[in-house]
Amino acid sequence: MNFLELAKSRFAVRQYTGQVVTDDELNYILECGRVAPSAVNFQPWHFYVVMGEEKRALLQQCYNRDWFKEAPVYIVCSVHRDQAWTRQSDGKPHGDIDIAIAVEHMCLAAAELGMGTCWVCNFDAAMCADVMDMATDEYPAVIIALGHTEAVAPEKNRKPLEEIVTRL
Ligand SMILES: Cc1cc2nc3c(=O)[nH]c(=O)nc-3n(C[C@H](O)[C@H](O)[C@H](O)COP(=O)(O)O)c2cc1C
Repeated sequence: MNFLELAKSRFAVRQYTGQVVTDDELNYILECGRVAPSAVNFQPWHFYVVMGEEKRALLQQCYNRDWFKEAPVYIVCSVHRDQAWTRQSDGKPHGDIDIAIAVEHMCLAAAELGMGTCWVCNFDAAMCADVMDMATDEYPAVIIALGHTEAVAPEKNRKPLEEIVTRL
């Protein structure tokens, strides 16, 4: 697979099989997140792998969707505000950019393994921080739902290049 094929093979998977995610698969995916770039290489992130029944049930209350309950693994990706780089010129914090890169590295890694993921941001963040026992400077940015799937990638519905690119 070249990179474009890999990028197209990743899609929002909301249907998972019961197939177990192995440690090798999980470790590969996490390693791909670890090597992601971040502003000033501050790596202001933490990845919580949630597989235990008790925590799963609590996390599912933060994002109450039937399909979400099917995913065998959740990776809760948090940002430590105190560790993230802030641009001096306008005070813009860059933790959300950093975490987004790491998350997509992991989603693409899973796609390379033939597995499915879905980015989830529409969850109750305060409840999630509480469930994950996060530090005061830490917030949950993204939950990755992860698992094996039989779903097939649909055609990408994206704006055409002419609409989104300006050549100067
Ligand atoms: C930042 C971000 C947040 C998202 N949050 C959710 C979410 O809370 N729930 C959900 O079902 N999908 C969520 N998605 C998945 C998007 O709906 C999906 O990626 C988008 O429609 C494009 O489809 P594709 O991923 O299949 O190419 C999110 C995606 C991104 C990038």
